Amino acid sequence: MEIDAIAAEHAKRLAAADALLPKPSPLNPEGGTRLTTRDGMALATRSRVEPGTPEALWRPLTEYRLDVRLGGTDPGAAFGSLLTEWDRLLEETEATDWDSAAVVTRPSRDTVGTGELLRRGFAPTRVLAVRPADRLASGPPAVPGVRIRQAEPSELATLVRLQLELRQYDAQFGLVTRREDEERAITDATRGLLADAGAAVPSLWIAELYGKPLGFVHVELPPAADWISGYVAVERAGYLASMHVAEEARSTGVGSALAAHVHQLFDEAGMDAVLLHHALASPRSTPFWYAQGYRPLWTSWYRRPAARG
Ligand SMILES: CC(C)(COP(=O)(O)OP(=O)(O)OC[C@H]1O[C@@H](n2cnc3c(N)ncnc32)[C@H](O)[C@@H]1OP(=O)(O)O)[C@@H](O)C(=O)NCCC(=O)NCCS
Repeated sequence: MEIDAIAAEHAKRLAAADALLPKPSPLNPEGGTRLTTRDGMALATRSRVEPGTPEALWRPLTEYRLDVRLGGTDPGAAFGSLLTEWDRLLEETEATDWDSAAVVTRPSRDTVGTGELLRRGFAPTRVLAVRPADRLASGPPAVPGVRIRQAEPSELATLVRLQLELRQYDAQFGLVTRREDEERAITDATRGLLADAGAAVPSLWIAELYGKPLGFVHVELPPAADWISGYVAVERAGYLASMHVAEEARSTGVGSALAAHVHQLFDEAGMDAVLLHHALASPRSTPFWYAQGYRPLWTSWYRRPAARG
């Protein structure tokens, strides 16, 4: 791909991912090494600060950084190729001591290629956060046209589709692994939940916007939630098993409407606390749940694969 075309596609993807991102600037090859692959380009730089300087308080002494521009039909793969090229470059350096780091700063919501970073041993470590001045403490305004209702047995296909979208999204963050039989497994489990008409509180709920189903949430109350109750020092705990809003409907209050609905269900059922799991590296779920009043209780650290070869 032409360099200009890569830059244009990169800029387009960023603009769609997050309205608060600035337009990417051209990569300036001065002072760095330009890397190019079929659909990607990058600038590899090295910077060093000396012990005893104020900067050394806040960063490793030697930092190797990669600034990427990704295009093509599979920008994640383009990112992977650039990281491989970069690793070759780093092998020639003396970057093996603790006071050095390889750093890739990405727009949080441009999640393509996250798995490529995890696969090479990178962990999400630092975030630059933003708070728009018009942020209200009360959350997003209620969306006209959103209706939350119990899922019907006839909606099996919709629920499976939304759950597969959720798996595709979450697989980027290193925990969910796509499986050949996932569609069948999810279909069977969802069919079982939909058939459980005797439950005091339905477990599956749909958010529809002007009649179109665009999100779902799956909740567990005791006894279904008993498996997790030992992790929290309360008498009655509920579990929010999963929730998803279709990409085109995100950031418009649909997720908040779903969450408000199920929090009311949990309250009415007398839950002392609600637990949920989320991927820490997810730029969607992490801020969303903390804005909804959740806070970390247990943190799991993963190394994949388990042993460093
Ligand atoms: C996480 C997820 C369910 C949230 O649903 P959502 O419909 O996008 O969330 P909402 O629109 O209700 O809430 C977020 C928006 O509310 C608004 N908002 C939030 N707090 C606000 C506040 N205090 N004042 C004003 N607006 C606020 C913002 O517009 C925010 O969007 P932004 O983060 O892009 O700025 C959804 O993004 C999703 O499905 N993500 C992928 C799957 C996933 O992560 N699921 C959870 C797995 S556990």
